[in-house]
Amino acid sequence: MISQEMGHGIALRNISKSVETMRGKKVVLRDVNYEFPGNRISTITGKSGSGKTTLLNIIGLLDNCFDGDLFVFGHRVTLSNWRRIRSLRAHFISFLFQDNLLFDELNVVSNIALPLECRRVEHKVRKLVAEEASEMVGIYDLRFERIQSLSAGERQRVALARSIVEGKPLLLMDEPTGNLDNETSAKLMHMVQDTAKICSWTVIIVTHDLSVASSVAHNLRLTRRDIKTIAEV
Ligand SMILES: Nc1ncnc2c1ncn2[C@@H]1O[C@H](COP(=O)(O)OP(=O)(O)O)[C@@H](O)[C@H]1O
Ligand SMILES: [Mg+2]
Repeated sequence: MISQEMGHGIALRNISKSVETMRGKKVVLRDVNYEFPGNRISTITGKSGSGKTTLLNIIGLLDNCFDGDLFVFGHRVTLSNWRRIRSLRAHFISFLFQDNLLFDELNVVSNIALPLECRRVEHKVRKLVAEEASEMVGIYDLRFERIQSLSAGERQRVALARSIVEGKPLLLMDEPTGNLDNETSAKLMHMVQDTAKICSWTVIIVTHDLSVASSVAHNLRLTRRDIKTIAEV
């Protein structure tokens, strides 16, 4: 049984990653050290190509090809143990991307309820829980709409509601406001903050949008020249 040791967030110890390119080996991350506290929203900014997505994919256990040590809520990630990685991901990690993965052929509430369907939760309960989540993010009135008919901001709310239903403690977001105008983006960020409080989430947001970063207290910067430092700014 995997437990979440409270007080532990996400710890990175000398995380390095290189990729092979046509012109030889390229270092993407070099000795990144940082401890993301639990129950907090952190943003990581940095220029395009500085390695933000790469780092987030490593934290999210989507990338199993790196050096260094990674601890997720006190659990050391051992790259050779795939079963364990799958289990850590299933217990702890939820993702929200710029192009959230929603199913066009399903309506809003069915999209939100998907994680419960995978867990074979009874239909009535699924619907109830999904409707409640839709209410939390202010799209209750849209719950029977098709995904195609929604705006980009509304789609991100559907994705957020799905993360609520998933019920995992770590939410990783990669450029969540990439498709949104400033006003919609600010609204989404408020919603993320409110929801994070209610759900006791640890949230890591990768963004090049400085207004997103300035809306939360804990900002970090990943720089290419000195990849060693993720500084609080
Ligand atoms: N699998 C890969 N193959 C080749 N280059 C890669 C690969 N993954 C990442 N990179 C390179 O690493 C750098 C960092 O990429 P990325 O993490 O996507 O940056 P960011 O999200 O900050 O824009 C980029 O220069 C990118 O081209
Ligand atoms: Mg990126």
